[in-house]
Amino acid sequence: MAALFPLAECVGIDMSVRQIKTAKRHAATLGLKNVKLEAISLSDIPENWGQFDYIIAHGILSWVAPPIQKKLMEMCRERLSPQGVAYISFNTLPGWHMVRMLRDMMLFHTQDALTPEAKATSARDILQKVTAITAQRGSAYSAFLQTEQETIKNKPDAYLLHDHLEENNHAFYLHEFVKLANAHALAYIADMDLTTQGKVNPPPEMLPVLATTQDRVRQEQYIDFIVSRRFRCALLCRQEAPLRPEIPLGILHTMHVLSHFAVKAEQDGVKTYSVPGKLAMNGADADVATLIELMDKKAGQSMPLAGFIEALPIAGQQAFMQKVMTLVFAGGFTLLQEPMQHCTVLSAWPVAFPLARYQASMQEWAMSQRMEVCPLTMMERAALCHMDGYHDIPQIVEAVKPYAPGKSEGDIAVLLADIMQKLVRDGLVAA
Ligand SMILES: C[S@@+](CC[C@H](N)C(=O)[O-])C[C@H]1O[C@@H](n2cnc3c(N)ncnc32)[C@H](O)[C@@H]1O
Repeated sequence: MAALFPLAECVGIDMSVRQIKTAKRHAATLGLKNVKLEAISLSDIPENWGQFDYIIAHGILSWVAPPIQKKLMEMCRERLSPQGVAYISFNTLPGWHMVRMLRDMMLFHTQDALTPEAKATSARDILQKVTAITAQRGSAYSAFLQTEQETIKNKPDAYLLHDHLEENNHAFYLHEFVKLANAHALAYIADMDLTTQGKVNPPPEMLPVLATTQDRVRQEQYIDFIVSRRFRCALLCRQEAPLRPEIPLGILHTMHVLSHFAVKAEQDGVKTYSVPGKLAMNGADADVATLIELMDKKAGQSMPLAGFIEALPIAGQQAFMQKVMTLVFAGGFTLLQEPMQHCTVLSAWPVAFPLARYQASMQEWAMSQRMEVCPLTMMERAALCHMDGYHDIPQIVEAVKPYAPGKSEGDIAVLLADIMQKLVRDGLVAA
């Protein structure tokens, strides 16, 4: 975030000296001057650090003992600015009950392991054995074990040790979390993922359950029961901050929109608009389709909505805004207060966004300027690493060659052109 928002003043804390040391190394390599990193407890934040517009506590609440959970809430209450927003993620019930079965089994089996590596190996071993033994049974339990084992198999040991085997692992129902927040004079705004609120086309079979209450938290709690939710990313603010129960449509006049839709023309002339894992539409209302296709040409940049809305006949504006808002809650669009612009034209001596180039040099993903995690192939990584303003396209073709064995120079150049387009679209390119 410090790299993405140079004018923001960022502070990162963790009790772990090692993690903070690593973070400091990254910040120094990137030459970031707007980030302070300290190995301290969240309960010891110095008074003179003042208040924060955003407090982000990812993977903390469920992994600390109850007294520190309370300290986290107290800290948010004391340190949020009047209009500030806190993000707190947590393992969620009822879904986490199922994961807990695995945790308990792995903890039981690994209690004598002497090192973290031995613990991880032993945990994987018991999970694999029990999954294999139960595989033939065709039961709900065996199906669950198989899915979980598949997920855990590809994760690093650090994930297994932190997410499953840490000493503290507390899961919360949403209603318990909100009660804890309210007890510290904090209000629940929403989950970060708006699509999980059941606001847009909830499955008809859900409606009788949702209709039993008008209370938003209770409704979301029922949805959690139905989908067996196991992780949440909740947003909180001070209880006295002015929170509107619904977002007024008029606000769209002042917002910028970012589209997540992929547009595909089918053989029968119908176009499909889809967001992987979230949404798929065969065709769309004419104005909405125009907006999506216009955004498709903007290579991942945002666009102000005012001009688009005002160009529509007045009689149709309200209905259009309603449809846009529906698609915001369905995961098709994101609304932004500020424009999100990034480079769309590649220079002859391309330059990657410095954070992306650095991340590509050490891992299989990079954070885009849209704050999205972009998975990277080896070839994409090699290209990004050489996009430093000192290599032209032929030199980058040369650099990615080892990752395209058996391909001709011409084929690689074509492949690289596609890769560059994708990197531009993902917001990983600076020039
Ligand atoms: C599951 S890890 C999550 C790490 C990181 N936030 C992330 O999302 O990858 C939990 C972290 O909480 C840190 N932690 C535990 N107690 C803490 C405290 N009182 N103050 C600050 N950090 C704490 C641990 O050092 C550990 O790094």
